[in-house]
Amino acid sequence: MEPLHSGNSQNVVLGVSGGIACYKAVELVRLLIRESFRVRVIMTKESMKFVTPLTFQTISGQPVATELFSLTQESQIGHINIADFAELLLIAPATANVIGKIAAGIADDLLTTVVMATQAPVLLAPSMNVHMYQNPILQENIRKLKGLGYHFMEPAEGYLACGYEGKGRLPDPAEVLEEIKSLLKKKDLLGHRLLITAGPNREPLDPVRYLSNRSSGKMGYALARMGARRGAEVILVSGPTALDPPSGVRRISVTTAAEMRDAVLKEFPRCTAVLMAAAVADFRPVNSISKKIKKGKKSLQLTLRPNPDILKELGENKNGKILIGFAAETETLVANARRKLREKNLDLIVANDVTEPGSGFDGDTNVATLLDSKGGVDPLPLMRKEELADRIYDHLLKLKANSK
Ligand code: CTP
Repeated sequence: MEPLHSGNSQNVVLGVSGGIACYKAVELVRLLIRESFRVRVIMTKESMKFVTPLTFQTISGQPVATELFSLTQESQIGHINIADFAELLLIAPATANVIGKIAAGIADDLLTTVVMATQAPVLLAPSMNVHMYQNPILQENIRKLKGLGYHFMEPAEGYLACGYEGKGRLPDPAEVLEEIKSLLKKKDLLGHRLLITAGPNREPLDPVRYLSNRSSGKMGYALARMGARRGAEVILVSGPTALDPPSGVRRISVTTAAEMRDAVLKEFPRCTAVLMAAAVADFRPVNSISKKIKKGKKSLQLTLRPNPDILKELGENKNGKILIGFAAETETLVANARRKLREKNLDLIVANDVTEPGSGFDGDTNVATLLDSKGGVDPLPLMRKEELADRIYDHLLKLKANSK
């Protein structure tokens, strides 16, 4: 299947200043293009000593702007055109020199002139030697620019090209991409404190074995990522998954359903909405044996006891919070989901038939129907889990507005 794009088509101008991390900016452009952003690149004179404009031109599919006053470039990609084109201006890598110039109001080349002329948000990703980064002049410049509304990414720590270890590396292109997406997103969930659960539980049978399910956690993590991008404070209670926590999200890792219940009940009083995307284990073994069960010739009987229904418990104590549940079904989708919506006292339930193509476990896509407590039914087409997360938040905001 062709990878689905999130359909961004937003305009990013990337300013590249002269540091060894320029090569990572090439990868960043590739990621942006893959996600359907339109990218125009501006290179400073020094950056062209590290990477040629042809590299960026080939990857971005657009001419690269390098000159402030060039007869040929000015008509097509002049500094005002490019400043107006930008919905976000990113400088990566941003050297101490370019940060210093911007802080001092100097506009003596194309990049610094575009910074002066643009009305778009500006994000800088500094990258340099650790001592240069610690230099109080640079730190003062960063403080000043932050105070003026410029956005900065913290450099990553590690081995630096100059031979030192420390803070100064350009963050991974994937992290820069995440920051760009976050800055471009409207912050309509600001003020919300979302409690999200994700992934499976593991119920131990003995010290080496457990009962679990096929949940990957991807839906819950997509909700956490998109919630944070839209300005919410996010607490993610996660069962065991292979996923990294999205940036800006507080993750609480749990294993069993009982641990998940404890974590959720502790965080519940301070949240505004709960999204239970976890595939909570419905049963646990009656006896978890402290020694490994040895194999024998006879068949082994396991006795399981039901786990508490976390969401139902929250529904009994709602206190004005919005409760969103998930229903993964293999038959009579809408009727089953509607029953769960009612029985658990939910505001919204996201129902999906896990047998449908594109809707199974561990995929990046989902086909879901949203059912709300007012009787609304919204069958959605196949989409990426991040897009579905956005649709769920749109619905959450609508419910909130109608309840006022
Ligand atoms: N859920 C929960 N605690 C449980 C079981 C489920 O909080 N012990 C939550 C899930 O996170 C989900 C919703 O309840 O948001 C519905 O889960 P689902 O497994 O579809 O339904 P169940 O109530 O477990 O019913 P069944 O498994 O019989 O379909």
